[in-house]
Amino acid sequence: MEAKKIPEVILNSGKKMPAIGLGTGSFPLPPHETLISILIDAFEVGYRHFDTATFYGSEEPLGKAVDKAFELGLVKSRDEVFITSKLLPSDAHPDLVLPALKTSLQKLGLEYVDLYLIHWPLRLKPEATGPADMLKENVMPSFDMKGIWEAMEECCRLGLGKVIGVSNFVYESPILKEIAFARQKTSLRKSMTCMVIQIALRWIYEEGVSPIVRSFNKEEMKETLNI
Ligand SMILES: NC(=O)c1ccc[n+]([C@@H]2O[C@H](COP(=O)([O-])OP(=O)(O)OC[C@H]3O[C@@H](n4cnc5c(N)ncnc54)[C@H](OP(=O)(O)O)[C@@H]3O)[C@@H](O)[C@H]2O)c1
Repeated sequence: MEAKKIPEVILNSGKKMPAIGLGTGSFPLPPHETLISILIDAFEVGYRHFDTATFYGSEEPLGKAVDKAFELGLVKSRDEVFITSKLLPSDAHPDLVLPALKTSLQKLGLEYVDLYLIHWPLRLKPEATGPADMLKENVMPSFDMKGIWEAMEECCRLGLGKVIGVSNFVYESPILKEIAFARQKTSLRKSMTCMVIQIALRWIYEEGVSPIVRSFNKEEMKETLNI
């Protein structure tokens, strides 16, 4: 089967990203073996950009699917695949960011993710790790954007997250403005300029925004690529 070649967009950092990505967030998540097979379908039809998150529980099956795609010869080099993952709110503490990314990489079986995002502008108690813990009583009062962002910068500097960014933040919100300090520091500029705001679920491809669409049905996956 001829895989469709998906156009790429160039991020501010110069890194290329396939303009359409496949989402892996689904509740409930299919059993891992099923999801791996679905993701292989996605590789076969041409997807090379995959969106995961610790919260989705899909990092491990995605990592296995990437391995399998290599085994099957669907991809030949790590550069052909673009993987996004996201920081869990219970890890949104400056000292937990790097260990959280390392855990994600372990689950993915990868040396780096192409894009690492702060999933929400939300900090939960470190022990509140699962979907059932997304409760008001687990929310911690302040969100240390500056400290968390510095830890994200460290992930970028170590090459573990090639590009860093945020998702679900209101554009130009005060919390986002807190990291404007990074622009004034030359050493931080490179990774700051590669910030990506992820917008899901909207067909605004023509506006230059890269959609992340979740379909676990091979025909629908193809239809999406035909846009
Ligand atoms: N950063 C964030 O906080 C955030 C938030 C939301 C989503 N996301 C990411 O974005 C992804 C997509 O979001 P979403 O899961 O809310 O889903 P979505 O892409 O808005 O929609 C999923 C639904 O659309 C259907 N669908 C997809 N392609 C279709 C097609 N060509 N024709 C007909 N139906 C089609 C799917 O059907 P089937 O069930 O039949 O496949 C599924 O029911 C998530 O998986 C996640 O990776 C990120």
